[in-house]
Amino acid sequence: MLRSRIIGCGAYLPEKVLTNDDLAKTVDTSNDWIVGRTGITQRHIAADGQLTSDLALAAAERAVSAAGISVDELDLLILATSTPDNTFPATAAKVQARLGMHQGAAFDVQAVCAGFICALSVADKFLLSGQAKKALIIGAETYSRILDWNDRTTCVLFGDGAGAAVLSAENSVENGAERGILAVKLHSDGRHYDALYVDGGVSSSQTSGHLRMQGKEVYRHAVVNLAAVAGEAMEAAGLAPSDIDWLVPHQANLRIMNAIARRLDLPPEKMVVTVDRHANTSSASIPLALVEAIEDGRIKSGDVVLMEAIGGGFVWGSAVARW
Ligand code: UT7
Repeated sequence: MLRSRIIGCGAYLPEKVLTNDDLAKTVDTSNDWIVGRTGITQRHIAADGQLTSDLALAAAERAVSAAGISVDELDLLILATSTPDNTFPATAAKVQARLGMHQGAAFDVQAVCAGFICALSVADKFLLSGQAKKALIIGAETYSRILDWNDRTTCVLFGDGAGAAVLSAENSVENGAERGILAVKLHSDGRHYDALYVDGGVSSSQTSGHLRMQGKEVYRHAVVNLAAVAGEAMEAAGLAPSDIDWLVPHQANLRIMNAIARRLDLPPEKMVVTVDRHANTSSASIPLALVEAIEDGRIKSGDVVLMEAIGGGFVWGSAVARW
């Protein structure tokens, strides 16, 4: 059976690191509060003039190289971001040109922190329908540009970064089991628009605005919705929690991640954690975590990987893949 298989991943983090102690010099917070409430110790911040497209391109080049393919083989590029370079064109168009990809289609998806799962879902459908054969999906963000650096309830939580994956339409079986994306489930509920949003925009204020969040409200929905949608994805793939080798969650808050793992009956050692060093990089957080776990040898061929994410909207989703 034809499946979309992830054949290579790449990531990029800006050089500059901002620690909790650095932040405590400019805003009324402390390392103890941030670590205790979120597990975050530091985050990466894009340099002046370094754009979302720069981060995306670096991650994309690494993913293409890890996949061992030529850029000429790509016929789809989907970039998930809520911090695009410009209002239009899509940041994907700039990345496509700089990558040297002169064929196929390139566009952005905007699903905030769930962007990577949404991009994965769209690419999967393109590949399964035959409309594309090899897709590059990217999650890239420069949240440092939309944070209110005087608001301690949000500015300590986010960081910049990018991650990418190449998907290929294949019939690949290992030890009798099909490899590739086994199931994807997506949901959204726009009644929660105001719980996590940016208070600016082209149509509303002609400014880019700042991120605003009702943290407790988001927390509550995150735990319940993510555990539920991950359960749906496992069920659709015909898998039980005991079949999952790695949980790669959206990295927003270690407490949320642990609560979901408990609800899913997955031991903490099966969860890939990068939030401590990356903070919440929105659409980039899952591919950044994937790259770390692939490169250090945790995720191996044949492993079953469960991913889940929620973002402003709310929009949330989960995907299961056999590597
Ligand atoms: O990608 C998806 C998007 N985001 C999320 O998933 C985030 C979801 N929410 C959360 O992770 C948590 O709600 C937070 C980490 C944002 C906050 O944790 P909390 O346990 O819900 O804390 P809280 O908002 O109830 O705040 C507790 C106290 C408050 O003080 P009072 O009112 O009790 O005196 C806050 O003003 O902590 C205070 N506080 C801080 N203190 C020091 C809030 N932020 C800070 C801070 N440093 N940075």
